[in-house]
Amino acid sequence: MKNILVIGATGQIGSELTMRLRSIYGNEHVVCGYIPSAKPQGELRESGPYEICDVTNGEQIAAVVLKYNIDTIYNLAALLSVVAEGRPQLAWKIGIDGLWNVLEVAREHGCAVFTPSSIGSFGPETPADHTPQDTIQRPRTIYGVSKVTTELLSDYYHNKYGVDTRSVRFPGLISYVTPPGGGTTDYACDIYYSAVRGEKFVCPIGKGTYMDMMYMPDALNACVQLMEADPARLIHRNSFNIAAMSFDPEGVLAAIRKYKPEFEMEYQVDPLKQANADSWPNSIDDICARQEWDWKPTFDLDSMTVDMLEKLSQRL
Ligand SMILES: NC(=O)c1ccc[n+]([C@@H]2O[C@H](COP(=O)([O-])OP(=O)(O)OC[C@H]3O[C@@H](n4cnc5c(N)ncnc54)[C@H](O)[C@@H]3O)[C@@H](O)[C@H]2O)c1
Repeated sequence: MKNILVIGATGQIGSELTMRLRSIYGNEHVVCGYIPSAKPQGELRESGPYEICDVTNGEQIAAVVLKYNIDTIYNLAALLSVVAEGRPQLAWKIGIDGLWNVLEVAREHGCAVFTPSSIGSFGPETPADHTPQDTIQRPRTIYGVSKVTTELLSDYYHNKYGVDTRSVRFPGLISYVTPPGGGTTDYACDIYYSAVRGEKFVCPIGKGTYMDMMYMPDALNACVQLMEADPARLIHRNSFNIAAMSFDPEGVLAAIRKYKPEFEMEYQVDPLKQANADSWPNSIDDICARQEWDWKPTFDLDSMTVDMLEKLSQRL
C-alpha cells in the first residue's frame, strides 16, 4: 500500500486529486498538505489526515514524510501563470526552491515525486500545432521559465540520484469543484459558471485563440496512471505532453449553446492573458504518453459540456 503526501492539496487540482487518491489507496494513506492561508475544508478535512506542509520549508516536508512513512509525493504547490507574473520572485521560491526541497527529501527518504509542468512551458518559437513531445522550450513568462526548470531539475534528480520523478504537462483544466487559481486558461472554466448562472460571459481571451484543455477527471486519471506505470516502459519522464481537446472561445461558446441557446458572450481581451495564450501551443501531440503508459482521455468538448452543465447546475 502506498503512503502519499499531496503538497498544495487545497488548490484546484489538489482538492480533487487528494480525494481520488484516498478512494484508491485508503483515506488514512493520503495526507492533505496545506499552508495556513489555505486550510482544508469539508470532506477534504474530514476524510483523512492533514498537515501543514510549506514547500519552502524542507524540514517541515521531511517531518511529515517521516511521520506518515510517505513513499510518494504529489507536489502541486505553485503560483499559476497570471499570479506568478505579478510576483515572479515568489513564483520561483515556491516553484523551484520548493521543488528542490521536495526532491532532497525524496532522495533521502526514497520517495517517488510527481510535479506537474504545463503547456506554459512552451514559448513563441515552439511549433504551435501538434507540438511534439521533444521540442523548443523558450517560454517568456516566469511561469514557463519555472516549469521548464521543474522538468529539468526533476530529470536531473532521476538521472543523478535515481529518484523516481514523473510528470505531465497539463493543459488548461476545467472542473466544477474548485475554481481555478489564476491561470491563463481560467476562462474555459468561468464560462460554464456564467452559463449556469444565466449571466452574460465577458471573455478575456480573443476569438481564434486555441489552447489545449482537459476535463478534471481525465487529469486525475493521468496523475494516477503515470505514477502507477511500469518504469521499464518510460522513455520520457519529465514531462509528458497529454491532450484531450483544443478549442477557442467560439468553440466552447458553441458547445454550451447547444444546451443553452440563450447564452451570450462578449469579448474584453486581457492583454497579459492574451500574450500568454499567444505564446502557448494551439494543440499538443501526446503520442509518447499514449505509447509509454497508455494515456487516453475519456472526455471531449461535448461530453465535458454536458457533464459540467449538469454538475454545476446541481451545485450552484
Ligand atoms: N489548473 C490548471 O489548469 C493547471 C494547468 C497546468 C499546470 N498546472 C499545475 O498544476 C499544479 C497545481 O495547480 P492548481 O491549479 O491546483 O493550482 P492552485 O493555485 O489552485 O493551487 C496551488 C496550491 O499550492 C498551495 N501553495 C501555495 N504556496 C505554497 C507553499 N509555499 N507551500 C505549499 N503549498 C503552497 C496553495 O495553497 C494551493 O493549494 C501547479 O504546478 C500548476 O502549475 C495547473
